[in-house]
Amino acid sequence: MKFTKSEALEIIKQNKEVLSEELREKSLAVCRENFGNSVYVRGLIEFTNYCRNNCKYCGIRAGNRNVHRYRLTREEILDCCRVGAGLGFKTYVLQGGEDPGFSDNELCSIVSEIKTEFPESAVTLSVGERSKDVYREFFKAGADRFLLRHETSVEEHYSLLHPSDLSLKNRKRCLYDLKDIGFQVGAGFMVGSPFQKDEYLAEDIMFLQELEPHMVGIGPFIPHKDTEFKDFPQGTLNMTLVMLCITRLALPKVLLPSTTALGTISPTGREDGLRCGANVVMPNLSPIGVRRDYSLYDGKICMGDEAAECIKCLGARVETVGCRLDFSRGDSPLI
Ligand code: 5AD
Ligand code: FES
Repeated sequence: MKFTKSEALEIIKQNKEVLSEELREKSLAVCRENFGNSVYVRGLIEFTNYCRNNCKYCGIRAGNRNVHRYRLTREEILDCCRVGAGLGFKTYVLQGGEDPGFSDNELCSIVSEIKTEFPESAVTLSVGERSKDVYREFFKAGADRFLLRHETSVEEHYSLLHPSDLSLKNRKRCLYDLKDIGFQVGAGFMVGSPFQKDEYLAEDIMFLQELEPHMVGIGPFIPHKDTEFKDFPQGTLNMTLVMLCITRLALPKVLLPSTTALGTISPTGREDGLRCGANVVMPNLSPIGVRRDYSLYDGKICMGDEAAECIKCLGARVETVGCRLDFSRGDSPLI
């Protein structure tokens, strides 16, 4: 169902304090129609916390001197995939800061090694803004998907969250380039980020309807102690759930993760997400030793849990909401 901006804004305002059962049930029904009760599993590998950018909300921004920086070696990355494969995973998400320490060629060769060892698996990259030519190289190397949240679709807001060398225009350019090349593309935004207005969230829905991404990552903003936003309040569970519902209705076939950030602000946040139309979970495959260093926001969950424990835990959690973990690749039905 395509929304106009004023329709989206109206739903946001109506559900601002309490998400109505009607909206939740509608969204869940659309999710069930398209995906049944499957919840897809993606293994997240946080392979570097070096970053050349200084996004004002992010704990691993370049200017944060308190971060212990790390890079996984190619062999360590492959070991993460091997652990995932042992657990039945068919998707690996390589996520990192924009780290000049990994050349484009190096990333391509890591992707192609993963694809050679695990030919049935999908590889997702989440490594930020690049030129179209570089994205094309990643695709040729075998990367199937790319995650790049737009963060906010309002210029004025974008420039309050980012330093002046980053622009919404370039972010959007990247997303359209990625789609054009043939990636399954994930956009997304934070809910409750500093200076956000209801109207901006409605604008996010407009942008998603225009871009038609295959995936949308939505999570609450959570302050990080070493950022200038440390004293801003975190996004609410309720508003994050409302945005999941509207996104599911606007893009019925989209892949929608119930994010770790949602599980961080509430003990049952991820289950709530699944009851609001989310259908993906992304357990952490990073080595336990580096988890604490990949801290985008404070209080992140699953810091000390082996992937096997997270899968057991997630399996039990999805069952409580009538879903089941689905270990297939979980490609977008839109391709
Ligand atoms: N709170 C919540 N989400 C955050 N991200 C980065 N910093 C924070 C934070 N403080 C999200 C951004 C980014 C994704 C990898 O993590 O949306 O795109
Ligand atoms: Fe990691 Fe529950 S999902 S311990």
